[in-house]
Amino acid sequence: MPALFLPKLTPVLYSPVKNQVQPQIVTLHDSTCVKVLLTREQIEEGIVRLAEEVRAQYGKQPLTIIGIMTGSIMLLADLIRLLEMPLRVGVIQTSSYRNGTERGELTINATLMPDIRERDVLLLDDIFDTGHTLTGVTNKVNQLGPRSVRSAVLLSKTGRCEVDMRPDFVTFDIPDEFVIGYGLDYEDEYRNLPYIGSLDSSQLPE
Ligand code: IMP
Ligand code: MG
Repeated sequence: MPALFLPKLTPVLYSPVKNQVQPQIVTLHDSTCVKVLLTREQIEEGIVRLAEEVRAQYGKQPLTIIGIMTGSIMLLADLIRLLEMPLRVGVIQTSSYRNGTERGELTINATLMPDIRERDVLLLDDIFDTGHTLTGVTNKVNQLGPRSVRSAVLLSKTGRCEVDMRPDFVTFDIPDEFVIGYGLDYEDEYRNLPYIGSLDSSQLPE
């Protein structure tokens, strides 16, 4: 584990699966059962790999990383600590008016973004599902005069893509399951879980 990465600083209270070597099913405070797909250690290793790919792409050039809120909070915080190039960080907010797990109309709020004119921009999102969010944000950001726009995601769901574009960097391909944790939510909860887990379909609306 590289010295820069400091998972041990994560408060113990946030770690319901701490000390479980190979967690399988975790029962949460509200009796929800979660099947662990990626442990915190696997996520950490994935982000170290992602940082190496970002470094290989940009070298020592200045970079602006834009996290797509709210799902990318953990990825943003963990990835930027592993990068050494001159870095600006900003956020953009999207919402899809989801009803449970269904996608709705995409809205984008770019008012919190730093100036990206003539900058190399890397968009960060938690998950690439149908691809509409990343496509919409890429189009919006391209209108603001950047030098280049690429994208990186923690997860990409297999067999769900409905758009022509793909993220430039994918940390993990996962099966077509609804996942929570490490920033990802179900009805705005469970983002604080330090692992990625899937919810059984019996726990989701029809
Ligand atoms: P897309 O526009 O269909 O690619 O969906 C992207 C957004 O939907 C992501 O940024 C997430 O916020 C959300 N999303 C998609 N799949 C999941 C999931 O399995 N769990 C939680 N959020 C998801
Ligand atoms: Mg999101």
